[in-house]
Amino acid sequence: MKSFVQLTDTHIRAKGQLAYKRIDTAAFLAKAVSSIESMHLKPSAVILTGDLTDFGRIEEYEHLAELLEPLTMPYYLLPGNHDAPDVMRQCFVGHDYLGEAGGPVQYTLDMGEILLVAIDTSVYGRSAGALCQKRLHWFEQTLASNADRPTVIAMHHPPFTTYIEHMDAIGLLEGRDAFVDIVGKHPQIERIICGHLHRSIDARIAHTIASTAPSPAHQVELNLKPGGPSAWLLEPPAFKVHAWQADNGLVSHLAYVGEFDGPHPFHEDGKLID
Ligand SMILES: [Fe+2]
Ligand SMILES: [Fe+2]
Repeated sequence: MKSFVQLTDTHIRAKGQLAYKRIDTAAFLAKAVSSIESMHLKPSAVILTGDLTDFGRIEEYEHLAELLEPLTMPYYLLPGNHDAPDVMRQCFVGHDYLGEAGGPVQYTLDMGEILLVAIDTSVYGRSAGALCQKRLHWFEQTLASNADRPTVIAMHHPPFTTYIEHMDAIGLLEGRDAFVDIVGKHPQIERIICGHLHRSIDARIAHTIASTAPSPAHQVELNLKPGGPSAWLLEPPAFKVHAWQADNGLVSHLAYVGEFDGPHPFHEDGKLID
């Protein structure tokens, strides 16, 4: 069995600065990294699905690189609406998959038998996401030429409406229908994994499931009431673990980060504890 971790929406700021004046996102990420490193089954890679920094500044990416340094497995980056892809490229030398300056960050990765297809929904300087014809064309071609590989799609903005209104207002506003059409034509897609929402949410897209993951720092308030305010809160930090076995398929776990009582055994002397 193989697994990989999805970390998302780390929102790292320059050293000594807090996000929204209150959240120590660096301390949260350091804890998530140490959780990943102490997992019983070591994941083979970590994919970060966007909003890596808060403002896309050089000092933020430098800080991010330092915080990710303790990871002993490779990690891969994808931009979100809070990022600046060209600054990312400048700060993560050697991450050649990030592509040419000025272009979208789109790439494929071999995760054992799984093919991971990362697509860029970010438009620099804008909060909402978009997939233009060019990006969709690359996506379709990539899927067509890997029809026999079980595939996971990674993207920042999810391709569905969440009913959290202020987040839907900055959702994937362009290219969503075309994206869903393409997904529907490619049964090899096992899952679509997304960020942006700072919560765990699932929705059906064609034959598959699209999910968003919580942040290892702050979460977006669960408020489905129309007109609800844009607000964050410190619900438990978490990341996702996607595990794969050929005879069983892809199974996704939510992993909380923090100190919790336990683990304690269910059994004592071979019997369930009464
Ligand atoms: Fe975010
Ligand atoms: Fe975002």
